[in-house]
Amino acid sequence: MEENYQLITKTAAGLEEVLSDEIKAMGAKNVRIMHRAVICEGNKEMMYRINYTARTALKVLKPFKDFRARNEDQLYKEIQKINWCELLRTDQTFAIDAIVSGRCFTHSLYVAQKTKDAIVDQFRDVYGIRPSVNTLNPDLRISLHIREDKVKVLFDSSGESLHKRGYRKMVDKAPMNEVLAAGLIQLSGWKADCNFVDCMCGSGTIPIEAAMFAMKIPAGYYRKDYGFMKWDDYDPELWQRIKDEADSQITDFDHEIWASDRSGKAIGITENNLQYAHLTHDIKVMKKNMEDLVLPEEKGIVIINPPYGDRLEEDDIDQVYENIGNTLKRNFQGWKVWLITDDAVALKHVGLKPTVKIPLWNGPLECRFVRFDIFEGRYKDMKAREAEEKETENPETDTDKGE
Ligand SMILES: C[S@@+](CC[C@H](N)C(=O)[O-])C[C@H]1O[C@@H](n2cnc3c(N)ncnc32)[C@H](O)[C@@H]1O
Repeated sequence: MEENYQLITKTAAGLEEVLSDEIKAMGAKNVRIMHRAVICEGNKEMMYRINYTARTALKVLKPFKDFRARNEDQLYKEIQKINWCELLRTDQTFAIDAIVSGRCFTHSLYVAQKTKDAIVDQFRDVYGIRPSVNTLNPDLRISLHIREDKVKVLFDSSGESLHKRGYRKMVDKAPMNEVLAAGLIQLSGWKADCNFVDCMCGSGTIPIEAAMFAMKIPAGYYRKDYGFMKWDDYDPELWQRIKDEADSQITDFDHEIWASDRSGKAIGITENNLQYAHLTHDIKVMKKNMEDLVLPEEKGIVIINPPYGDRLEEDDIDQVYENIGNTLKRNFQGWKVWLITDDAVALKHVGLKPTVKIPLWNGPLECRFVRFDIFEGRYKDMKAREAEEKETENPETDTDKGE
C-alpha cells in the first residue's frame, strides 16, 4: 500500500476555505489552510480525486524533495544531487515554475533558470544530450517553492491549470476564470435548491459552473489531460475507478438556470460553450438587456459579473452600476443578488447596501463579492419615499397642481 504524503492544492486568494471544505468532503486527513493553498495528507488516489473533482483547485502538487540553500550556487548543487536521469528521459520535455519569498532569493525567473541549468548539465555529463524545455505541454512540470533558505521541489500532477476545464472553447471579452466562478457559486451558499440566473453571462462561465455544481458533473469531466498521466507510476485503472465513482453521482436538476446578456456575440459564444459541455438543454439562454429580462416566477439567486476594471471599455461605468441598482430594485424583488466587482466607487452607484461583502482576487484584481437582498416592496417603498422627498423639497408645485 502506498504511503501517505502531503499534497499541496493551489487555489485563488479568497477561495482557500471553499477548497478546504471540498477536500475535507473527499475524506482527506489533516487538511490545513495556507495562503492560496490547502495542504492535506494523501496518496495517489487522493491526488487523482482532487484533480478530477475539486472545483476550486488550480493545481495539485506532490512534494519530491526539501533542502536548504542560501544562494544560487547552493541551489544548483542541491538540484544536481537529485538523480534527474531516473526521473526524465532525454527525449522528454520539462518545465519549471518557481515561487520565491524572503531575502535569499528574489527573482523567480532566475531561480527557474538556475534549476534548469543544473538539470540539463547533469544530462549532458551523463549522456552528452539533454531533454528540452517545453513550457506549454511538458512531460514533467517541476515546481520550486522557496521561502528564505527553505526549498521545496514538487511535481505538478495537474499539468495545465485545472481552471482549464475543457468546455470553454471560445471566450468573449473579460471571461471569468472557471475556478473563480465555481468559488463564487459555493461562497454564495446556493445549494442548487432554487433557480439560478446570470443576466450578464458573457461567455457563460458562471451558469455553466452552476449547472456542473447542481448536476454534480465533476470539475474535470470535459478535460482529457493531466500531468500525472505522463508519470512512470500512472495507474490508469485507479484513475478510471476515481472517474467512474464521481461520474456515477451525476444527477438531474429540478430548477432552472438562466444565462442572458445584451451582447449577441456573447450569447453566440455561450451557446457554443454549452454545446461542448452538452448542457444546451439544461441552461436557458437569452439575448436580453438586464433591464428587459422577465425573470422566472419562482424566485432564486442571481450572480453577476458586470463590466469592471480596465478590461472593458464602458463609457460611464458609474452609470452602468446605477442602472444595475435601479433594475434590481424594480425587477428583482424577492431575489438574492450577488455581484463581483473590483470597482469600489462604481459599486456605490448601485444604491443598495450589501448584506454580505467577501474580499476575493480575480487574477491581479482585488475584488469584492457582495450580496444584495432585494426585499419585496422595496421598489414601491423607494418610489413612495422619492415622492415624499419631492413633496418636501417643492411643496408649492404640488399645491399649485392641486388647485
Ligand atoms: C465582465 S463580462 C461577464 C463575463 C462572464 N462572467 C464570463 O465569464 O465570460 C460583463 C458582461 O456584461 C454584459 N452587460 C453589460 N451591461 C449589460 C446589460 N445592461 N444587460 C445585459 N448584459 C450586460 C456585457 O455584454 C458583458 O458580456
